[in-house]
Amino acid sequence: MSARVVVCSGCCCGNLDKGHNKVPIDFLKAAWEENGLEESVKLTISGCLGPCSMHNVSLLKTDEGLTWLGELSHEEHYDAIVSWARDFIQFDNKAKLPDSLVPHQFVRFEEVVITEHESYM
Ligand code: FES
Repeated sequence: MSARVVVCSGCCCGNLDKGHNKVPIDFLKAAWEENGLEESVKLTISGCLGPCSMHNVSLLKTDEGLTWLGELSHEEHYDAIVSWARDFIQFDNKAKLPDSLVPHQFVRFEEVVITEHESYM
């Protein structure tokens, strides 16, 4: 059982100069550490994942598949990602997507290429 949360911090996502909201990378790293998530759920801060028009983008990757999330604009969205990661561990890979993230889910058919800026733990 393992999962990966990929948070885009590429050319558009989190780019304040383009009018997009900040990606709270420090908050995420601290939350991962505080909650001891790193052993089962890897956190990756990545370069552009492709669907820039959906800024800010994150990807939940599990054995079951990929869950794309876009238009993440509030810290509550990133809080919900932390909750999902906690639930993934607690409920043995049966984590339900938090309600606040459901409207942010989108489908993408192209293959994803993850260019790591930073892999945390
Ligand atoms: S910069 Fe995030 S998807 Fe392109």
